[in-house]
Amino acid sequence: MIKKLSSCVGKYLKQSILAPIMVIGEVILETTIPLVMVEIVDRGIRNGDIRYVAKMGVVMVVMAIISLMFGALSGKFAAEAAMGFAKNVRKKLFDKVQDFSFANVDKFSTASLITRLTTDVTNTQMSYMMVIRLLVRAPIMLIIATIEAFRINSQLALIFLVAIPVLSVAIIIIMTTAFPLFEKMLKKYDALNASVQENLIGIRVVKAFVREDHESEKFREASKKLMDMQYKAEGVIIFGMPIMMLVVYGCTLAVYWFGGNLMVAGTMQSGELLGFITYIMQILTSLMMISMIFVTLVLSRASMERIVEVFDEQTDISDNSEGVTTVEDGSVEFENVNFSYSKDKEKLTLENINISIKSGETIGIIGGTGSSKTTLVQLIPRLYDVLDGEVKVGGRNVKDYSLDALRNSVAMVLQKNVLFSGTIRDNLKWGNENATDEEIIEACKSAEAHDFIMSFPDGYDTDLGQGGVNVSGGQKQRLCIARALLKKPKIVILDDSTSAVDTATDSKIRKSFREKLSGTTTIIIAQRISSASDADRIIVLDDGKINAVGTHEELLESNKIYREVFDSQQKGAE
Ligand SMILES: Nc1ncnc2c1ncn2[C@@H]1O[C@H](COP(=O)(O)OP(=O)(O)OP(=O)(O)O)[C@@H](O)[C@H]1O
Ligand SMILES: [Mg+2]
Repeated sequence: MIKKLSSCVGKYLKQSILAPIMVIGEVILETTIPLVMVEIVDRGIRNGDIRYVAKMGVVMVVMAIISLMFGALSGKFAAEAAMGFAKNVRKKLFDKVQDFSFANVDKFSTASLITRLTTDVTNTQMSYMMVIRLLVRAPIMLIIATIEAFRINSQLALIFLVAIPVLSVAIIIIMTTAFPLFEKMLKKYDALNASVQENLIGIRVVKAFVREDHESEKFREASKKLMDMQYKAEGVIIFGMPIMMLVVYGCTLAVYWFGGNLMVAGTMQSGELLGFITYIMQILTSLMMISMIFVTLVLSRASMERIVEVFDEQTDISDNSEGVTTVEDGSVEFENVNFSYSKDKEKLTLENINISIKSGETIGIIGGTGSSKTTLVQLIPRLYDVLDGEVKVGGRNVKDYSLDALRNSVAMVLQKNVLFSGTIRDNLKWGNENATDEEIIEACKSAEAHDFIMSFPDGYDTDLGQGGVNVSGGQKQRLCIARALLKKPKIVILDDSTSAVDTATDSKIRKSFREKLSGTTTIIIAQRISSASDADRIIVLDDGKINAVGTHEELLESNKIYREVFDSQQKGAE
């Protein structure tokens, strides 16, 4: 895990090395200053040598200033290193997610991916900064201060032999009880994040169903569970504080007591005692700091694991970058295709699909909801891979092509489509970056979108807002069709893409498809039989299997499912 994350340090290695070096400088000065103090008291003040006191005083101030500078520099380098590191982690994560197939995204869920890209990266950034700064500072300070304390008075330093084990045991007990609690707390965080994200994405639905109270209640509950857990976890830590303080003050008291006795006996000088007390404080604060660092590291360990989990995810559709780059024609074949979302042969979503579509043909696909229509067409641009059998485009297995080439030739208008913030023109150019204005207008005319676009005051430069909120459902669908047409694909797949368009416009779109895209294979999934009835052939899907293939008339004649759907829609129309 550490190895995978450390590859993200990249060009911030310089800062990551400089920060600890500066810390070492800072600590060495901080631990030398008490020695100067000892000299001032025991030599200067004791002998009434004011000039010596002044001289050493200046030395002490200079040391303090240099130490401060080291401290500031280490802070600066550490912050730079940590932010740069986080930037690299975030970029690596984002790039990885871009390579994900639909199946990969399904596995992680969008909400969790967002949390990983934000909260988890921030946690990791924090602990990285801690590691290169505090994790260097505390142990070094502990070691130097202990050595110096022993050098001043080894007898008195024996107090540590009692204090340090007591403190360590206390810290270990507290940590082992707190660790599991913190891990549970992070899970609660996930749940809370998921609830918030789902709510925000679906806020319109929430309002439409007047579910605000219910949602608030759900959130309050998740929030309360998190609080309770946090309360427990932090409670253990808080409980540790008085114990630590007890040991710290106990030690100080013991040092005063025994040190005082030593002074009276004349074996220790007052300056030495003063220096000793400073060291004991440094030792105990570094111990506390180390325990704090461990808490933070544990907290972020879960986050780091979640990030590495994404790094390690095998993208299950691998791009064949040396694959064939040209798609011969728009023919499509399915040969003995089985498919399952869970890759489980017992739970097939598509079963034994065999169909051959000629280039330029128009195919309709009809079937009840959940009959696997979407699943079937998603195999053509390789949004998912088959379990068994072969899908061929242009006479070749889809796996032989580079993904770019395949997906540029197979334009699919998804059932759940999205537009992005930006102007209409920006969005259309997703289809083809270099499209000229004429090409854009032509595609929009084919998709019956030109007229309504021109009715906006800004025309093609109308800003769509986030997720394309500024257009109606039917307008959005037509923009998505135009966007797909701009690719000049060999195969166009419309997955229920005119469901929100009125029947008259729908039939106009089909008419212009017939006229302008006669060489393009067109696959239309539709709920309305009228949207598919003029196709060359219609596939009737039922529960993941092909029930029948034929023309509108043939199917009306011979296919029960088709006739039932047709009759019910006719009745509805009448
Ligand atoms: N990403 C997914 N992960 C797991 N199962 C899925 C996924 N998408 C769809 N399914 C399941 O596969 C089956 C077929 O779904 P599909 O979306 O292909 O149906 P459809 O015919 O397009 O339906 P509709 O007309 O409602 O769009 C359904 O039972 C559905 O629950
Ligand atoms: Mg569907």
